[in-house]
Amino acid sequence: MTIRPEPAVAMPSGAEFATDGAIHLNGNSLGPPRTTLVAELDRIVSDQWARRQVQGWFSDGWLDLPRTVGDKLATLLGATPGQVVVAGETTSATLFNVLVAACRLRADRPVLLVEAESFPTDLYIANSVARLLDRRLVVESRAGFDAYLHEHGDEVAVAVAAPVDFRTGERREIGPTVALCHRVGVVSVWDLSHAAGVLPVELDANRVDLAVGCGYKYLGGGPGAPAFTYVSARRQSQVDFPLAGWHGHARPFEMSPTFAPADGIDRARTGTPPVLSLVGLNHALDPLIEVGIDELHRRSAELGELFLDCLAERSPELAGRLASPRDPDRRGGHLALRVSQAERVENALAERGVHVDSRPPDLIRFAFAPLYVTHEQVRRAVEALCDAVEGVR
Ligand SMILES: Cc1ncc(COP(=O)(O)O)c(C=O)c1O
Repeated sequence: MTIRPEPAVAMPSGAEFATDGAIHLNGNSLGPPRTTLVAELDRIVSDQWARRQVQGWFSDGWLDLPRTVGDKLATLLGATPGQVVVAGETTSATLFNVLVAACRLRADRPVLLVEAESFPTDLYIANSVARLLDRRLVVESRAGFDAYLHEHGDEVAVAVAAPVDFRTGERREIGPTVALCHRVGVVSVWDLSHAAGVLPVELDANRVDLAVGCGYKYLGGGPGAPAFTYVSARRQSQVDFPLAGWHGHARPFEMSPTFAPADGIDRARTGTPPVLSLVGLNHALDPLIEVGIDELHRRSAELGELFLDCLAERSPELAGRLASPRDPDRRGGHLALRVSQAERVENALAERGVHVDSRPPDLIRFAFAPLYVTHEQVRRAVEALCDAVEGVR
């Protein structure tokens, strides 16, 4: 079943989603596909792949897709073209590539600084990079992160942080931390996975050095959609990526035995890109770009506020279990409640047609993706939540 969203303001043309009648409050994990995606994939397979076979790499622009999609995505990230690429790797592999390159920019400094609240893969990868490059990993809570930079910044090579806490949705300003990093000579790296497509991050204006993010969350690229890499124009000629694959070579088809990095963002490419996945991501970006990141953020915040207002009215007790900031300006696109038996509540909600996700031990996250969540759905989700919590008691 396909439902046409009924948002507060008009949706972009063609932005219908295959929701199967369910309410999707898990767009920070994986949202539903656009109803036009199958036709778009069929077009690529039938009209391009089947007809032109390997020639498609050149005649149908497949080879350029990492850049084409990257430039589109840049508009949502506050970046001018030529600074974002979707090489085709996971976020984990992309972060590895970026962190090693960032550390190589400051070979003279011993510390790799990472936020304690980071998504686990970021902690694992940072730890691995620190061991590989013989650096000291320092894990600081959000509260102590900037203080560490103030006190020990001259020892830090690279600082990695996220603008949205993956558990609570709590937001952190990018600009002041980047400015602090630069004052003390630190390379500033950001994981934008929970911000891209729902929160303005203004990468150029904030003078971010390098960033990565998932393609399958608010960007809607589909299960396992590839990650993106941002390298600021200022840094592009300096970065030396460890994943020096042939697609990052200045002249990939010369088949030279020695690596010469491409100019610009192309050096962040790795190997043969996953064309069908890139087509999925490319297709998902169109309605997001049509609406624009400021409006996407405004709509998402409005939906989040409606959720909390309805919850406060229906169950003040449950509303009191908010694990996220109450101020919408201090949240990204999702919020979290602390409830006992969170996983059982998640399952009970799914039975009622409301998709959310739980994180151990007691968090349930609700994400307000602005293209396919409606006000009416938020009201129904609050009712279902109260019933579900009551039911598992
Ligand atoms: C903030 C953040 N970073 C990184 C990842 C890992 O991404 P991947 O599984 O694509 O490597 C996730 C996955 O949910 C994430 O939430």
